[in-house]
Amino acid sequence: PRNIFFSRHGESQFNVEGKIGGDSPLSERGMEYARTLPELIRKHVGDASLTIWTSTLQRTIQTAQFLPYPNLTWKSLDELDAGVCDGMTYKEIELAYPEDFANRDEDKFNYRYRGGESYRDVVVRLEPVIMELERQENILIFGHQAILRCLYAYFHDLPQVDLPYIKIPLHTVIKLTPKAYGCDEERYTLPI
Ligand code: F6P
Repeated sequence: PRNIFFSRHGESQFNVEGKIGGDSPLSERGMEYARTLPELIRKHVGDASLTIWTSTLQRTIQTAQFLPYPNLTWKSLDELDAGVCDGMTYKEIELAYPEDFANRDEDKFNYRYRGGESYRDVVVRLEPVIMELERQENILIFGHQAILRCLYAYFHDLPQVDLPYIKIPLHTVIKLTPKAYGCDEERYTLPI
């Protein structure tokens, strides 16, 4: 059976600083994750073919850099655009835009950042990615927290209200195996 592997990029500089969005490089720990991945992936893929999909952001490309498989870059896999809040910490957002911060808490799926996107927007822009994913064999996606929440909710058929709260931890590979109804799932967390 074919498998779909998901992973967030390795820890980034912005993750360390608690800042959202941006295009920061991996931290030293993030690089360590990237270096450890080839062994883990080979164990689970064996000789089968695999294609890697990344976003256009350097943290996903760096995470894939040591893996010996063909790869494709998708603009549609870039992280949810936080508009004017891009590059800020949640604390800074709360101080600068208290009403927006409260509104997001109220309805996280529909809240659209000023000059940016909502989870609903991201679900729409991921449609072509999902269509292609349905046609492919083994794919490994290096994505971002919001993006992987949307893809994960699609494959497990989870409700929109829960989608923005799905836990997609760093340094964890999630393997989904689609079945007639739903998907089997395994998770591999690297102790980094
Ligand atoms: O903090 C990492 C990150 O990927 C941000 O770039 C993004 O804005 C955020 O997570 C999405 O998570 P949430 O919707 O819970 O703020």
